[in-house]
Amino acid sequence: MTTQSSAEPTRRDFLYIATGAVAAVGAAAAVWPFVSQMNPDASTIAAGAPIEVDLTPIAQGQDIKVFWRGKPIYIMNRTPKQVEEAVKTPLSDLKDPETDQARTKAGHENWLVVTGICTHLGCIPIAHEGNYDGFFCPCHGSQYDSSGRIRQGPAPLNLPVPPYQFVSDSKIQIG
Ligand code: FES
Repeated sequence: MTTQSSAEPTRRDFLYIATGAVAAVGAAAAVWPFVSQMNPDASTIAAGAPIEVDLTPIAQGQDIKVFWRGKPIYIMNRTPKQVEEAVKTPLSDLKDPETDQARTKAGHENWLVVTGICTHLGCIPIAHEGNYDGFFCPCHGSQYDSSGRIRQGPAPLNLPVPPYQFVSDSKIQIG
């Protein structure tokens, strides 16, 4: 009797654990195909090699997030309004003054490529949120504009622009 009652909870525990493990694998499997479309295989990413990203699926006003050297990178196809707002913002309004031109590539001004790690304490900001049509960090309320520049909240610096270049009109190489 004693043996049986102690065995039952053990089996039940196992069932809970097994169910949890299946759910976790299921979630990972759902996320992976999206990421794998954008990036090379895991060993290449781990090595920190440059990655190429096809921009054609990203419609105006949309963004995607890819991973490079383990960091989330936002690639945003900005609307003309977002570009105009970023360009006309006086440097005197900025905590970390930087022109939009210095953060984008000439001839491809609609594209913003930034590291999606809040410069306050490292949370991942949400794109197309906040008062500046850019990024909003839900952790402590930092707000970045449509150029990824810090405008409000505790973060001290702009979202960094990773090294990247256009290899064609519709493809960039990050790294
Ligand atoms: Fe983003 Fe604190 S980590 S505001």
